[in-house]
Amino acid sequence: MSVVPSALDNESCDVAIRASFLHFKSDPDFSGDAFEYLEDGLLILKGGRVRQLVNAPDWIDHLPDGSALYDYSGCLVMPGFIDTHTHYPQTEMIASYGLQLLDWLKQYTFPTEEKFAERDHANQIAEFFCEEMLRNGTTTSAVFATVHSESVDAIFEAAQRRDMCLIAGKVMMDRNAPASLCDDPQQSYRQSVELIQRWHLQGRLHYAVTPRFAPSCSPEQLELCGQLLAEHPDLYLQSHVAENVDEVRWVAELFPESRSYLDVYDRFGLLGPRSVYAHCIHLDEADRVRMADSGAAMAFCPTSNLFLGSGLFSLDSAYRHGIRVGLATDVGAGTSFSMLQTLNEAYKVCQLAGHSLTPLKAFYLATLGSAESLYLDHRIGNFEVGKEADFVVLDLQATELMKLRMQNAQSLEDKLFALMMLGDDRCVQATHVMGQRRFQRGRV
Ligand code: GUN
Ligand code: ZN
Repeated sequence: MSVVPSALDNESCDVAIRASFLHFKSDPDFSGDAFEYLEDGLLILKGGRVRQLVNAPDWIDHLPDGSALYDYSGCLVMPGFIDTHTHYPQTEMIASYGLQLLDWLKQYTFPTEEKFAERDHANQIAEFFCEEMLRNGTTTSAVFATVHSESVDAIFEAAQRRDMCLIAGKVMMDRNAPASLCDDPQQSYRQSVELIQRWHLQGRLHYAVTPRFAPSCSPEQLELCGQLLAEHPDLYLQSHVAENVDEVRWVAELFPESRSYLDVYDRFGLLGPRSVYAHCIHLDEADRVRMADSGAAMAFCPTSNLFLGSGLFSLDSAYRHGIRVGLATDVGAGTSFSMLQTLNEAYKVCQLAGHSLTPLKAFYLATLGSAESLYLDHRIGNFEVGKEADFVVLDLQATELMKLRMQNAQSLEDKLFALMMLGDDRCVQATHVMGQRRFQRGRV
């Protein structure tokens, strides 16, 4: 029996949301009561944080005068989606035809990133990127900027204006790219220090040391990345590893003394908690053991891995090794901003790799699982008391086909599965950040 509130006053509630609610308390593979689902729930917020999640019929008449009520009855509210690896400067080159990683970087990526020497251009794309995230229900991302410091200022300013929790950093690269995109290690170090001082832990923003990938970094550059982390232990580190077989071969030539591609980063002190490595496809057993022991995270980028023909990520082996895994779009190699579409492709990658991604596990991965991979689960990822209230409002009947399919849905799991296979940005009715509505479908 639920307890009816004795006192809900302005001290305990300023915003309330009525809807169906789903959130995770732990990994559904390991616990029978890993999630909470309320058919008719009320999320009570104060100051942008969760106060309580309760049954609406018992509590709706007890809201204090003056509190704002958002009535999303008929919709499903989940914690905001978390994208653990993406590139905002590549937004404008998403869906560029025909090549695998190394040629794709040369032909499309580097020329696009050169434009970010212009601050106005960076501002314009950063604004678009944040709006597109919110249109898709994504409230937190770990983002690569470009080599230009101003491109980092642009994305942090855009996120700050929306009060979003965001991780970002200046790309560090000093070789194997056009001269206009190369920094030198000392200058790169100094610029990174300035950006850390300007942005790290300002409100909800976090700085990530961002060496692009081993082939574009000299040993000196990687050493200075390690120095930055040693000097600021609460920073993030983000990079790419073992995405493509030609890339893996190239790294073996460039760093012959290293046991493996992952070992290159390890030798420079770049593996640890809050290190996030995109792709992690072509790893061996020793690499996986090392990922698990170090506390680093893998960012699973299914749309990107299929688009560039990079290979199949093994979610199953990551979990068997106890490695932290987050879900990621990897735009612009990734083909969608939608985490629903990303789950769709994740499911198919797992099918091809011989195991099944259950719908509960999928939505755990897009929310709490990704928060855990980024060590942000004490702040975001579910609706536990005190968490920051970032959430997405989903309409499971957004298209004619979904309406028909949902009539035949037998269970919550069945509905969630149809949502992740058929859903996209059309399902996102609204997105809230720290309780405030920042996107509403149909409103410009
Ligand atoms: N490896 C190095 N840079 C990149 C990038 O921009 N995208 C992807 N997918 N892989 C990379
Ligand atoms: Zn990437």
